[in-house]
Amino acid sequence: MAVSRLKCFTGTLYIIWALLKMYVVGGLALARQILQRHKTATDLHLHTGKVAIVTGGSSGIGFEVSKGLVAKNVHVFIASKCVTEGKMAINKIREEFPNAKVDFLLLDLASLESVNKFVDNFLARGLPLHILINNAGVMLMPYKETEDEMEYHFQVNYLGHLYLSKLLLWKLCESGADNSHSRIINVSSVVQSVGCIDVEMLGEKCKHWSQYSPHAAYADSKLAIVLATYYLDANLRAENSKVSINAVHPGIVNTPLYRHVHWGIKWLLDVVARLTYKTPVQGADGILFLALSDSLEGRSGEYFDNCSQVSSKGISYNKDLQEELFKKSTEIVQNIVNQKFYGNQD
Ligand SMILES: NC(=O)c1ccc[n+]([C@@H]2O[C@H](COP(=O)([O-])OP(=O)(O)OC[C@H]3O[C@@H](n4cnc5c(N)ncnc54)[C@H](OP(=O)(O)O)[C@@H]3O)[C@@H](O)[C@H]2O)c1
Repeated sequence: MAVSRLKCFTGTLYIIWALLKMYVVGGLALARQILQRHKTATDLHLHTGKVAIVTGGSSGIGFEVSKGLVAKNVHVFIASKCVTEGKMAINKIREEFPNAKVDFLLLDLASLESVNKFVDNFLARGLPLHILINNAGVMLMPYKETEDEMEYHFQVNYLGHLYLSKLLLWKLCESGADNSHSRIINVSSVVQSVGCIDVEMLGEKCKHWSQYSPHAAYADSKLAIVLATYYLDANLRAENSKVSINAVHPGIVNTPLYRHVHWGIKWLLDVVARLTYKTPVQGADGILFLALSDSLEGRSGEYFDNCSQVSSKGISYNKDLQEELFKKSTEIVQNIVNQKFYGNQD
């Protein structure tokens, strides 16, 4: 009894600590953002003939990224989990760009089977792929498991995108050239700096509410994205690949991402957001810079904020951790694939 009370107590402290860390880091990032001049890329020319996939491209930052790419003549595939929202997004883009090459393909990152189907559907079009923007994300969702029985933030933000990138890597390689690399852009967050990766516990289920912090789950998933970005970059460079990969914090941006914030402070956050956050158009700028700017040709394995390279959390540069995380993640993906696709329980 006393042991279980102690566990509950330490669990509650962990939840409060994770929440405080996230709000402090978010607050400091917001203060910096207000004081800094918002930067945009100035060298973006037309990229006619290029093809891009934008996950979560039907709303928020992803929608503005899709629109920004279309404006540069890129053929965009919006990949998201709601057909109606996807079609609405396409109609909205076509209102502004009647000749836009923009399509929707269903993708639910909470299901690796859906990721697989999405890739099949995309490849069936027989098109090249020059830009993959892993943007979709969820934040502060109460504990929920995906179709593959993984914690939701872990799979949607990180694991699903890792699998998507793995399946599309050969296509990106094939579409790249020596002087025009294909580009993968992984959307992380400033809160990666308070994330923690415990490789042993990766993919483990939460056994009790007192062990689950949605704040920690979000921050951890965003740190995992950065670690995987650096690991994949090292592998791509070793193979002399024509693919570049970078991670980015898009800024603190006023979007529906904050829908799960507790109602007690949501009203306050909404007021602050309207007054001080970046708009989704501004949030898209840093991603469009990474996707299209000539000045970044061949740059890879970096983390960006406000169109500038910045440092990520110290531990994200630890090569052993990068490798351990990648190996364990690949193992988890393989287990899911074996069980779900082939019914193999081993
Ligand atoms: N807003 C910020 O201040 C901020 C700061 C740092 C980082 N970010 C990152 O920026 C990215 C974009 O976020 P946002 O602010 O634009 O939020 P958002 O408007 O909520 O966009 C998130 C997108 O992800 C999609 N999505 C969610 N679950 C999915 C799933 N299971 N499968 C496929 N797509 C899914 C959503 O589709 P539905 O609409 O159908 O749910 C939506 O289109 C996220 O990765 C977020 O973590 C945002």
